[in-house]
Amino acid sequence: MDFALPPSSLRGAAGAVAIQKARRPFALDCFATFAMTMLFAAPAHAAGGGEGSVPSWAMLAYLAAGVFFILALRGLSSPATSQAGNRNGMIGMALAVVTTLVTHKIANIAEIGIAIFIGGIIGVTVARRIAMTAMPELVAGFHSLVGLAAVVVGFAAWLNPAAFGITDSAGQILAVSRVELGLGIAIGAITFSGSVIAFLKLSGRMSGSPIMLPGRHVINLGTLAAIIALIGAYTVSPEGGAGEGYLIIAAALLAFIIGFLLIIPIGGADMPVVVSMLNSYSGWAAAAMGFTLGNSAMIITGALVGSSGAILSYIMCRAMNRSFISVIAGGFGAAPDAGGAGGAREQRPYKQGSAEDAAYMLEQAESVIIIPGYGMAVAQAQHALREMGDKLKEKGVDVKYAIHPVAGRMPGHMNVLLAEASVPYDEVFELEDINSEFAQADIAFIIGANDVVNPAAKTDKSSPIYGMPVFDVDKAKQVFFIKRSMGGVGYAGVDNDVFYMNQTVMLLADAKKMVEEIVKSLD
Ligand code: TAP
Repeated sequence: MDFALPPSSLRGAAGAVAIQKARRPFALDCFATFAMTMLFAAPAHAAGGGEGSVPSWAMLAYLAAGVFFILALRGLSSPATSQAGNRNGMIGMALAVVTTLVTHKIANIAEIGIAIFIGGIIGVTVARRIAMTAMPELVAGFHSLVGLAAVVVGFAAWLNPAAFGITDSAGQILAVSRVELGLGIAIGAITFSGSVIAFLKLSGRMSGSPIMLPGRHVINLGTLAAIIALIGAYTVSPEGGAGEGYLIIAAALLAFIIGFLLIIPIGGADMPVVVSMLNSYSGWAAAAMGFTLGNSAMIITGALVGSSGAILSYIMCRAMNRSFISVIAGGFGAAPDAGGAGGAREQRPYKQGSAEDAAYMLEQAESVIIIPGYGMAVAQAQHALREMGDKLKEKGVDVKYAIHPVAGRMPGHMNVLLAEASVPYDEVFELEDINSEFAQADIAFIIGANDVVNPAAKTDKSSPIYGMPVFDVDKAKQVFFIKRSMGGVGYAGVDNDVFYMNQTVMLLADAKKMVEEIVKSLD
């Protein structure tokens, strides 16, 4: 059973490094994974599994670990408390791991240590090298390992049920454990194949375009029904009865296939929502396995990951004006122009300015609202931007940063970058808290954002972003808009009326270069 350990420990270690880069959404994922790793591995090394043999102090320790995980989640919900949240997560993780090792009297501790070491080194190396913008694909890749670990543990428990403590007095696998086993394997398999496709699409190794199979909804529903029927048949089949093995193997194979089928119709550009959904699935797979292994810490962490992933998916869908149900059903994001490069656009007049023009206007302003987006992340312009903000504040300008929930390419993307550049938290505002202030603002300074400031979301019913809440930058007295060229489009691939407004001045350049020049001009 050691093979369950390295992939998950690799993912846990990588997640720990990823926390430094992206504190919020993926953090819980990391430490929960690490804890799960040990919990997955431990029963196979134990003489007997199940909490029947676990002393009450261990139950308390697991409960305390669960409380630490909840505190971690709470802390990670704000950049100001995220480091404390991270620490709480690590304490909970350490507590769960040590308790499991001690209570299960693990004999081959060196073997486990080596597996953690190797997995940890690989994970830390990968995570250190990964660019911030490639974080979603890293997370997708690691989710696949958790799904695989759940499948492997499920089969191990099926092959050797006595070691997992899931047998009755006659040595038969308990009916309830059969349901848990079947569900854990099926959800794990869906998570695995779905995450592999998400990884391939996000990393550009596979075309990001939606692949639509004819009759896919019927195929998907039929496959899901077959999986449920197979798990049901396995649950009621007599122990060792003919074909029992085939039932569980067939359920796993179909689950691998449905994971694949559910994700291929989804466009690469919509993958971040899918990644968070798969995150949720991996949590539920772990929780199901926690029941099988009789481990309450695993149930708690699995449920936390499962529910937080589901909530995050819901929030992202809402912020992008997508239907949550259609995401779950698969095949959303198939709007013909979503994520595309945009069709031919009519030439319209616009004003272009220079860094000097922008610097002059900025220092004259009383209030400036900065709206960062994906382009700031690509250009890594956050440090130069903070410097610009500091200079303006020295000149008595009121500077605020406005963050859209889906600005960039992953949840919390802008918050993390601004925090990395030490932008004070009290200058950073969420959409609903600042949107009413644009009407009074002297300048809206847009840096690498596009869709999140596009008024078509409010006015054009045919637009793919119609219904998405956006910043009311059109109400500001003056708008500066940094992007590299007029040809480039945002994620949704649609033109933006803000470019052509009377009060808009386009600053066409790489975001970092442009802001650095503005900073120089402010001296
Ligand atoms: P986008 O609409 O993607 O626009 C990015 C802008 O940055 C473009 O105008 C692009 O124009 C510019 N840009 C790119 N590289 C640049 C550089 N080096 N220097 C200067 N500008 C650069 O960004 P957004 O406003 O942040 O919107 C995010 C979009 O992603 C939304 O549609 C959202 O629904 C979607 N999305 C978000 C998430 C999450 S969770 N955040 C997940 C999935 C999808 P040029 O090419 O001309 O430079």
